[in-house]
Amino acid sequence: MHLARFARIRLAHLPTPLEPLPRLSEELGVDLWIKRDDCTGLAGGGNKTRKLEFLLGAAFGQDADTLVTQGAVQSNHVRQTAAAAAAHGLACEIILEERTGSKATDYVGNGNVLLDRLFGATLRTVPGGTDMVAELETTAEAVRARGGKPYVIPGGGSNPIGALGYVDCAREIVVQADEMDLEVHRIVTATGSAGTHAGLVAGLAVMGADIPVLGIGVRAPREKQEANVFKLAEETAALLGQPGRVKREQVVADCDYVGDGYGLIDQGVIDALTLAARLDGIVLDPVYSGKAMKGLIALARAGQFRGETVVFLHTGGAQGLFGYQSEIEGAL
Ligand SMILES: Cc1ncc(COP(=O)(O)O)c(C=O)c1O
Repeated sequence: MHLARFARIRLAHLPTPLEPLPRLSEELGVDLWIKRDDCTGLAGGGNKTRKLEFLLGAAFGQDADTLVTQGAVQSNHVRQTAAAAAAHGLACEIILEERTGSKATDYVGNGNVLLDRLFGATLRTVPGGTDMVAELETTAEAVRARGGKPYVIPGGGSNPIGALGYVDCAREIVVQADEMDLEVHRIVTATGSAGTHAGLVAGLAVMGADIPVLGIGVRAPREKQEANVFKLAEETAALLGQPGRVKREQVVADCDYVGDGYGLIDQGVIDALTLAARLDGIVLDPVYSGKAMKGLIALARAGQFRGETVVFLHTGGAQGLFGYQSEIEGAL
């Protein structure tokens, strides 16, 4: 797939480790491994580092001087974009959506928000339900009006350019598994704005590596999530010069673990956070990787992965834990 054809700014510590999770494996009766994309390095790590390498490559190709993006108040994507901008001398304009409705002090000021401020990003908060695509354009226009050159990154960094980061991760997983003589039967990941899931599916399809990917949804219902992922995976394969390589049946999302909604945590998420922490010393996040692990645990206990070697992609987000202190502490 020759990713060197695409402009890229190196931000990540790669390759991230692919490691066994021995105690969780024993607990769940599955041979469970973890791909440590929480260790990608930028601003504490997480899945956005890989996407931002290609997005910043494109931004520099257009001589941009300002990154413009959006996310929920405790967005990890925003935190990592703010850090990437700071590290490369770019301004960073952020729109935060009050998507969960929480006004808790730690939610609006700690965790990722504290870090966004530390990185010097300009933050503007808008009510939940705001048209965020329109907000991005308004903000970009304001940057242009004052003589700046904005580069607009969609929420989650999820477009075909950003998804190239997860095409590369798919390649990395296959190389590491081959080196360890490890046959992987399934990859499980959180799926939200779709770039991670779509990049993995496109990368595996283009390589001809027949490893199914299960996305555990964190927001949208299944049909919508799968449609979003499929569309982006197709566009990503086309960008790689291989249109039509992704088959619809290769895109599978299970959206039964969203609970009360995006960014809202429940006892199942707390149980997943504590199980991963106490059995294998892994810190997950309350919005994405914790929800994905909640789903993985439930499916494993229901016997869905019997006899399989499963790789859980840890997409990071632990910084968001500090925005949920009161809810988590109260449930421990
Ligand atoms: C920690 C974490 N995991 C997973 C995801 C989901 O990835 P994607 O938006 O590419 O579907 C996100 C997205 O913001 C995230 O911050």
